[in-house]
Formats: sequence, C-alpha cells, structure tokens
Amino acid sequence: MNDDQTKAVENAAKNPKNLGEMEGADAVGTVGRSDCGDMLRMWVKFKEENGRKVIDRATFQTFGCQTAIAVASVATEMIRGKTAGEALAMSGEQLSSPLGPLPPMKIHCAQLVEDALKSALDPAASKPAVPAIPSGPTLADQITPTGKVKINLLKKTSES
Ligand code: FES
Repeated sequence: MNDDQTKAVENAAKNPKNLGEMEGADAVGTVGRSDCGDMLRMWVKFKEENGRKVIDRATFQTFGCQTAIAVASVATEMIRGKTAGEALAMSGEQLSSPLGPLPPMKIHCAQLVEDALKSALDPAASKPAVPAIPSGPTLADQITPTGKVKINLLKKTSES
C-alpha cells in the first residue's frame, strides 16, 4: 500500500460514514472471521425509486481493524441506489475500490464487509468464512469481554 492509499484508509477509518445501528432496517447481517477475530454487522434500508426497490441507506458496526472500518464506510456509500442484486454482485475488491488496491494481507478485511452485506441481503446464499452470527440488538451485546479486553467505541456519525 503506498502512502496515498494508507492515507485514504486512515481518513476513511477516522471519519467513518454510516456508522451505527439503524432502527427500522429491512435487513441485517452479521459475520465474523475466526482468523483475526473481527466482526461486522450491516443494516440495510430499501426504498422505491422509479419502480425499483433500491438501497436507501446502509449502516454498520464493527469490532474490526482500521481497514474493515474504512471499507465498510466507503461500501455503505457505494451501495446506495443499487438493487439488492446489484449490491450482491459486488466483490470485496469493488466495495473497497475507492481506497485503492488493498495489500494481500488486508484483502480479507474487504471480504468481511462483502460477507456482511451478503448476509444481510441474501442470508440463504451467503457463504461467509464463518457462519453468520445471530443478531442481537447491538454488536456490543454479543461480546462478553473477559480478562484484559478493551472495547473502544467510535462516536456515531450523522447520516452523511
Ligand atoms: Fe480482521 Fe482486518 S484484520 S478484518
């Protein structure tokens, strides 16, 4: 990752868009990765537009790395206005494309976002690295910290 890409990821992670729970969401998907222990939940709301059912808004929460936060931020922006089918057709590479190509060791971070989106939009067809996690009210509700675990909560941002 060159300096520009590193800055793009850092900026997106520092000021994530669409962070937080969404009340009244039409779809929710939660996935986790056993290899790094990160989790991501995505909420999706649809609207009718020109006779098509398209994504009005998507939000996310994650116990994930900086790259996962950055990819989820740009991905939730990119899928606005797309149908579920169009969004489902997007790969992790496409969802992270505004950040530039990710290094091989960070590709799974974009995959986490892709898997959460697929889990939300088509739970029956999604095949995440690990099975989808049953949804609780918030992602934090599903974590039971033991020992020296510290959870840093990001401030919820406005819709933009
Ligand atoms: Fe696990 Fe990035 S290191 S999602």
